[in-house]
Amino acid sequence: MNYHIRKMKPQDIDQVYEIECMVFPNPWPRSFFQNDLLKDDTIALKSEEDGVVYGYALASCVLDELHITNIAVAPEYQHRGIGKKLLSEIERMGRERECVYAYLEVRINNITAIEFYKKFGYRIIQVRKNYYLDGTDAYVMAKVLKEAL
Ligand SMILES: CC(C)(COP(=O)(O)OP(=O)(O)OC[C@H]1O[C@@H](n2cnc3c(N)ncnc32)[C@H](O)[C@@H]1OP(=O)(O)O)[C@@H](O)C(=O)NCCC(=O)NCCS
Repeated sequence: MNYHIRKMKPQDIDQVYEIECMVFPNPWPRSFFQNDLLKDDTIALKSEEDGVVYGYALASCVLDELHITNIAVAPEYQHRGIGKKLLSEIERMGRERECVYAYLEVRINNITAIEFYKKFGYRIIQVRKNYYLDGTDAYVMAKVLKEAL
């Protein structure tokens, strides 16, 4: 299949939210997506073909930092390179907006995601205790996007 990476639009939220509920134990409320799409500092992308959304990624770009806040691929379409395309594009757009660092939080037991980020050059820099609503700790993983001048 030929997945396209495009900007996420309000009309994509139904499909995005469906994936969100399938992949996360504590999904974001729908309103988080709605609010993020209204913000100038948000980068929101989807992977789609023929109107069907297979994955999405969101980040906020504040000063020189790109905070990757959410990335997911529908379970039956994982391990086909969709996450890789989404993360590469969100990093490219972050660099375009002059972001120098990228960081994210990930559940310490989410081995798949941790390996995925490591493959992209992210390193664990910190542990945030009780970061998630269910009490799970988070690793903060970070990467230099471009050398500061
Ligand atoms: C993490 C996630 C977005 C990755 O998306 P994906 O489309 O499956 O990933 P890709 O197929 O693009 O994989 C890219 C690379 O990541 C690595 N990777 C992906 N899954 C992996 C796994 N289970 N174990 C080890 N490495 C893995 C591989 O090195 C892979 O590269 P390769 O195919 O060249 O070997 C996806 O697994 C997902 O949606 N998980 C549930 C939601 C989630 O946990 N999101 C992250 C929250 S912090």
